[in-house]
Formats: sequence, C-alpha cells, structure tokens
Amino acid sequence: MRLLAGLGGLLIAAVAAGLLFGLVYSPHDGLLMAAYLVVCGGCVVAAVELLKRRRRHARSLARQLATGVGASVGLTMVGVGVIALFMFISPHDGLTMAVLLLLAGALGTYSVWALSQGPLDDLHAVRDGLRAVGDGRRDVAISTGARDELAELADAATRMVVQLAEREAERDAAEKGRRDLVAAVSHDLRTPLTSLRLLSEAIESDLVDAATRRDYLEQMSGHIRSLSALIEDLFELSRLEAGDIQWSMQQVSLDELVAETVEAMRAQADAKRVSVAATVPAGIDPARADPERLQRVLFNLIQNAIRHTPADGSVTVLAEPCGKGVELEVADTGEGLSEEDRGRAFDPFYRGGNGKARSPGGSGLGLAICRAIVEAHGGEIWFADSPTGTRVRFSLPNA
Ligand SMILES: Nc1ncnc2c1ncn2[C@@H]1O[C@H](COP(=O)(O)OP(=O)(O)OP(=O)(O)O)[C@@H](O)[C@H]1O
Ligand SMILES: [Mg+2]
Repeated sequence: MRLLAGLGGLLIAAVAAGLLFGLVYSPHDGLLMAAYLVVCGGCVVAAVELLKRRRRHARSLARQLATGVGASVGLTMVGVGVIALFMFISPHDGLTMAVLLLLAGALGTYSVWALSQGPLDDLHAVRDGLRAVGDGRRDVAISTGARDELAELADAATRMVVQLAEREAERDAAEKGRRDLVAAVSHDLRTPLTSLRLLSEAIESDLVDAATRRDYLEQMSGHIRSLSALIEDLFELSRLEAGDIQWSMQQVSLDELVAETVEAMRAQADAKRVSVAATVPAGIDPARADPERLQRVLFNLIQNAIRHTPADGSVTVLAEPCGKGVELEVADTGEGLSEEDRGRAFDPFYRGGNGKARSPGGSGLGLAICRAIVEAHGGEIWFADSPTGTRVRFSLPNA
C-alpha cells in the first residue's frame, strides 16, 4: 500500500515537473525532466523497498537509516550525472555539481546518523530497563527525559513494571495467607485428633474402669463438637471470602433481632455470672440485612464478650441511628485487648492474649467471619475506643 502511494506520488511529481519544464522551456526539456524523475525516483523507491525487505536481517537501526539515505543520495547523484552528460554541460560545471551533490549526500547521511543517536539512546534505555525487569528487579523507573513517542513507550514500560510489582506483592500476600491458613488449620486439627486417638486407644485397651471410660467418652464428644464447629466456621469463612453465598436480604427490625439474640445468649452469660442487656431505641429504622447472618455476627460478638468478661461483669448490646445507616455495638467490662491484638483480631485464626487471656476453645475465626459478613452488607466493623473492657462496633446501611 505504502509502495503504491510512493509510486503514485512519484508519478504525479514527474508529470507536474515535466509540464512545468515543458511550458517554461521546451517540450524536450519537460520530457527529459519527467523521464529523469521517473527513472531516478523509481530506482530510489526500489532501493528503499529492497532495504525494507532486508530489515529483519539488519542489526543496527543507525546503519539501516544511514544505508537508506546513502542509497537514495547515491542514486540521485548517478541520475544527475547522467542528465549532466545529456545536457553537455562543461566539465567544470559537472565537477562542481558532483562535489555539491557529494557534500549534500554526506551531510544528509551525517544528519540522519547524528539525529538517530538520541532516539537510539532512548531505545537503549528502554531495552536496559526491561532487561533489568527480566532479571527480577522491580525498582526500575525507565525515563528518556523527552516528550516524544519513545518517552511514551518508556512511560508505558514503567507503568507496566509498577503494576507488575503490585500484582506480585498481592500474589505473594495471598500465597502467604494461604500458607498460614493451611498451617493454622492443620495445627487446629492435629491437637484434638491426637487427643481423640489417645482417648480411643485407652478405651480400647480395656485398662480403664467404667467411670473413666465415661469421662473419656465425654472428652471425646467435646473434641468432636469443637472439630465440627471449626470445620463449619472454616467452610463459612471460605464461602464468604469466595462470595459463594446466597444472601436473603430483607428489612430487619433491629430491636426484635437484638432482643432475640441476647435472650439466646443469656444461659451462657448466666453460667459465667455475667449480666447481658440490650439497649435499642424502639422504632429504630430497620436495616437491610440477611437476618440469619446478622444474628451470627451478634452471636460471635456476644460470645467473645462473655468469654472475656469475668464474673459480675456486664455485656451491653446497643444499636443507634448513624448517618445513612445504623451502628450496632457489643461492649463488655472485661480485660480488653492489647494494641497488637486490636490490629490483628479480625485476621483468620488469630487468637489474642496469652495464657489466661486466650479464648478457651476458640479457633480465632469468629471475628473474621463477622468482618466478612458486615463487609458483604456494605458496612464496616472496628474496635471503638473504650477506657475499660472492649467495644466492638459495626455499621449497616439503612433498608
Ligand atoms: N470482647 C473481647 N475481649 C477481649 N478480647 C477479645 C474480645 N473479642 C475478641 N477478643 C480477642 O480477639 C481474638 C479473636 O477473636 P475471634 O472471635 O476471632 O476468635 P476466638 O473467639 O478466639 O475463636 P472463635 O470465635 O473462632 O471461637 C480472641 O482470641 C481474643 O483474644
Ligand atoms: Mg470468637
């Protein structure tokens, strides 16, 4: 296509120059000029086309450009020489013309060579930058200091490196998360499974009396319950994180839901002599939520609060309108959380405190599940400041 356009342009130029010379001088001069332009121009176009086809074998861009210019100028010089012979110009004028043409050719070739150095340096900068990226470096900023197309190429390459580094960091974090999760799950499965194996071996050995056997069987069912709870929580969390959950979103009347949840937890609270109460203003706007899962959030938070509050302490659940939605809070008068625990308590399998403060029997999935549910509702969950005890607060959009 480009070749056809070149040849067309050449033909138009030859006809125009031929007409001009024909009108101004003589038809003979016009014909000669047109013939010269067609023959010489045709040779130049053919030479450039040949160089283009051989481009794949060339090693240097500067050499390609210099050869192209050299070929065009050289062929033009030959053409002019032939014309000079036809026109019977004097040897002096012919030599002058040849020297001038030689100079023009040399200057043209030099200009192309000199001007190509800047773009070539820029290309080398992009090449070296990309090689460094290929060798594993990610702190590479490729810049040419110009504003041309090569600068755009360098910018695009730098953006690509930044995005690559971000994706790799995300992938590494996800990979580490998966490894930690597998380690935590296997640890949490191994301990009760080992106990189950030892207890069942003891029962099978016939060395234990009936009372001890009953005790061992009770211990075994406790381990089985905690294992099932762990597997269920893990399954729930992985479905929440994968977005693989059917939500039944509806208008939820918060005073009813909170009262119901608090009543359901009362037995557990009484067993620890912890008082539990709800303060939700009657007629508070309903929230748009999945009631079962919202109740799950409250269960987890109230269970944590009861676990971490000593006897005679209290747990309070409240809900209040806030901005475009509603905020719910579970506050207790327990031991509270250290700064480190606050930062990590929502991570799966994180169990804060040590020794006495550690949740007995917990797997560290409760708050992670709460966060996943609240965020799926478009809300947020956080630890609110509190001089004593713990206040966990979360927001929900209005219905
Ligand atoms: N109300 C609270 N008071 C003090 N510490 C708390 C409270 N709630 C949570 N924590 C700390 O945060 C950690 C994580 O809580 P999370 O509910 O995720 O796990 P868990 O209660 O240990 O186990 P699970 O909920 O799976 O039974 C707890 O181990 C505990 O150290
Ligand atoms: Mg918990």
